[in-house]
Amino acid sequence: MIKPIKGFSKLSKSDKIEWIAATYFSDANAAKQAIKQYWNDDQKLQQLHDEFIENTISNYYLPFGVAPNFLINGRLYTIPMAIEESSVVAAASKAAKFWLDRGGFKTEVISTTKIGQVHFIYSGDVDKLNAFFKFVKPKLIEDTKNITKSMEKRGGGTLEIELKDKTSDLENYYQLHATFETLDAMGANFINSCLEQFAKTFKSEALHFDEFSESESYIQIVMSILSNFVPDCLVRVEVSCPVEDLSDNPSKSSDEFAHKFVRAVKIAEIEPYRAVTHNKGIMNGIDAVVLATGNDFRAIEAGAHAYASRNGTYSSLSHAEIEDGIFKFWMEIPLALGTVGGLTNLHPLVKVALEMLGQPSAKELMQIVAAAGLAQNFAALRSLTTTGIQEGHMKMHLMNMLNQLHATASEKETMVTYFKNNTVTHSAVEKALSKLRMLASEN
Ligand code: MEV
Repeated sequence: MIKPIKGFSKLSKSDKIEWIAATYFSDANAAKQAIKQYWNDDQKLQQLHDEFIENTISNYYLPFGVAPNFLINGRLYTIPMAIEESSVVAAASKAAKFWLDRGGFKTEVISTTKIGQVHFIYSGDVDKLNAFFKFVKPKLIEDTKNITKSMEKRGGGTLEIELKDKTSDLENYYQLHATFETLDAMGANFINSCLEQFAKTFKSEALHFDEFSESESYIQIVMSILSNFVPDCLVRVEVSCPVEDLSDNPSKSSDEFAHKFVRAVKIAEIEPYRAVTHNKGIMNGIDAVVLATGNDFRAIEAGAHAYASRNGTYSSLSHAEIEDGIFKFWMEIPLALGTVGGLTNLHPLVKVALEMLGQPSAKELMQIVAAAGLAQNFAALRSLTTTGIQEGHMKMHLMNMLNQLHATASEKETMVTYFKNNTVTHSAVEKALSKLRMLASEN
C-alpha cells in the first residue's frame, strides 16, 4: 500500500523523481529515464522551466507549428500554434490560403474591458450600505493608486466600481463590481491586486462609518477575484466572398456548398450537442495560438463557452449567411489576452511567437487569435459538409500511428504512398506495416 509522503515539495528534483519511480513504477530505471530524457541540457533554460510551476520533474513538450498566409486586415501573418492534435495546423493553413485569395480576414476589436468582483455579506439596512458605498468609493480608488499608477499613465486602470445588490439570489449577498482596462496586459494580477485592496479598504472603513450600527459595521468579505467572463473584451472576425467564388473545385457546385455550410452553422446555433463540438473546433485554433503566445488558455476557454451560452442556451460562436449572392461567415468572441507580463517576457518560444507576429498589442493579438479560430471552424465545416473529416484526419493521424509502431523513415515513405489510395485505420496500418516488414526480411 502506498503511504502519503510528507515534505514532498522540499525534496530535490532528483529525490522527487526517485520517490515517484520507486513508488509507482514496476521498472523504476525506465521511468526515471523516460522522465529525464526531456530535461534540457541548457541548465539555465531548464531552471527557467522548473520555476514556472512547483514540483517540476520534467518538461512536457507540445509541437510548435506555424500556419502561414493569414491575411488579416490587409496584413500577412504566419501564425504560431502549439497543439498536440494532428490536422489543426494543416487545416488552419489551408483555410488561410483559401481566404488569402478571397480578401482575407476582416477583424475589429469591439471592446476591451474586464471585470472583477469583491463578494461580500452585509446584513443590515440597504440604504445605509448605499450611503457607505458613496462615501467610500473615492477612497477605494485612492488606496489602489500605488497599484494603478503606471497602468493609468498608459491610459488604463479602474474604470468603474458599482455596488450590486444580489440579495434576491442569496441572502445578504452584495458585490463590488469593478470594470478595468488593462491595455496590453492580460491583467489578472493587476485586477486581483486592486480587488484585494478594495476589499481591505471597504471592510476597514465600514468599521468607522457613523451611520452603521455595531453589527452593520462588520462586513464579511467572502472573496475578491477577477471574472473570466469577459463579454466586453470582444473581437469580431469575418470572411466573405461571392458565392460563386466559394468552390475551389470546378466539379463542385459553389451554391450547394454555400447553402450546406450555412445550414451546418444554423444547426450549431440551435442544437447544443452540435454547438459544443462546433465551438470545440473553433477553440482548436484559438487555444493553439493562445498557448504559443504564452496566454492562459483555460481563461480563454471558460470565457468563450460562457459567452456561447450568454442567452440562456449554449449556441454556436460563429454565424453564416448568404445575402445578395454574398457568402458571409463571422464570429464574435471574448478574448482577454496579454502581450506583456506573465510568460510573454520569460518563455523563449513565446518570445519567438510574438516576434513572428510583429510584437502585436493585445488588441492586435485578439484579432489574430480570432482569425485562427474562424479559419479552423471554416476548415472543419468545409470537410464535414463535403468529404467528412475522417479522410483528411486519418491521413494526418497515419504519421502518429507509424511513430507508435516505430516505423523507419523509409517505411513511413512507403506507407504514406500506400495509404494515398487506401483507407487509414489502426488495424490497416498495422497490417500493411507488418507485411512490408515481412517482405523486407524475406529479401
Ligand atoms: C475536432 O478536433 C474538431 C471538429 O470536431 C470540429 C467540428 O466538428 O466542427 C472537427
